[in-house]
Amino acid sequence: MSDSASAIPPAWLEAVHRLEGARRVLVLGASDVGKSTFCRFLAERLGAALLDTDLGQKTVGPPGTVTLGRRDASLAALHFVGATSPSRHFLPLLVGVARLAAHAEPLVVDTSGFIESAGAMLKAQKAEAVLPDHIVAIERGGELAPVLAPLAHLPIVRLAPAPRARRRTDSERAAARRAAFAAHFAGATERHLDRRTVVLQRRDLPEHPAGLLCGALDSAGICRGLSLVLEADENSIRVLSPVPEIRVLQLGALRLAADGTELRRL
Ligand SMILES: Nc1ncnc2c1ncn2[C@@H]1O[C@H](COP(=O)(O)OP(=O)(O)O)[C@@H](O)[C@H]1O
Ligand SMILES: [Mg+2]
Repeated sequence: MSDSASAIPPAWLEAVHRLEGARRVLVLGASDVGKSTFCRFLAERLGAALLDTDLGQKTVGPPGTVTLGRRDASLAALHFVGATSPSRHFLPLLVGVARLAAHAEPLVVDTSGFIESAGAMLKAQKAEAVLPDHIVAIERGGELAPVLAPLAHLPIVRLAPAPRARRRTDSERAAARRAAFAAHFAGATERHLDRRTVVLQRRDLPEHPAGLLCGALDSAGICRGLSLVLEADENSIRVLSPVPEIRVLQLGALRLAADGTELRRL
């Protein structure tokens, strides 16, 4: 949640009341209407897991991933996407949503504020992956109509933006992503991966891989965290990662500096 204490609008208490007994709640809205703040509140109240499908502004875990949080928003599972915005990455994003939603109930699903054109299509696909039984629509004034049209068969709880919700600037958003990356890599150490045994997924290693963000997977193919490529030669790939046993590297589309600042996209 935010550093300032969040005020609980009376409408949120009413919404929780209406959502008691819900199994899968999909929360939709434009940017900065208070979706993530509401999702944390709702997950706590319902004793639900929290599926964080926003790749940039995370409540649970590091950017560039779809994450599943426990009721207290601690990280339970993640799926690597490798970008902090969904454009051109719908496929790994939706696979992650479907995989992490599969075994979690009750579940509250937070989404990004990307609701225009392709964003509306993405929301419809997220709904197909999650199969919600309730929708929460947080709306300023009709902007969610195209997103809600394909979900009109479901009960919809409508909320206005929280009075205390405020817009964040692009630089505040970038700073939040940097801090979330830094927190994930805080306990990371350097690891040498043997190129004869490490498995590479999603794409080939580029000629100059330094700074490339990757998913670090175990021998069951489950993502355990992120890794950052430091350098590579024909024998080994040197990475920085908090994950102790890396069997598979999933190569992302983003480069990071050591402090978590996003550099060039691939
Ligand atoms: N009920 C609330 N009380 C205080 N601050 C809030 C409340 N709801 C949202 N905010 C603040 O408004 C900003 C946007 O809220 P957030 O939940 O991140 O929106 P979204 O997920 O829709 O982008 C954040 O800084 C958040 O802390
Ligand atoms: Mg949010």
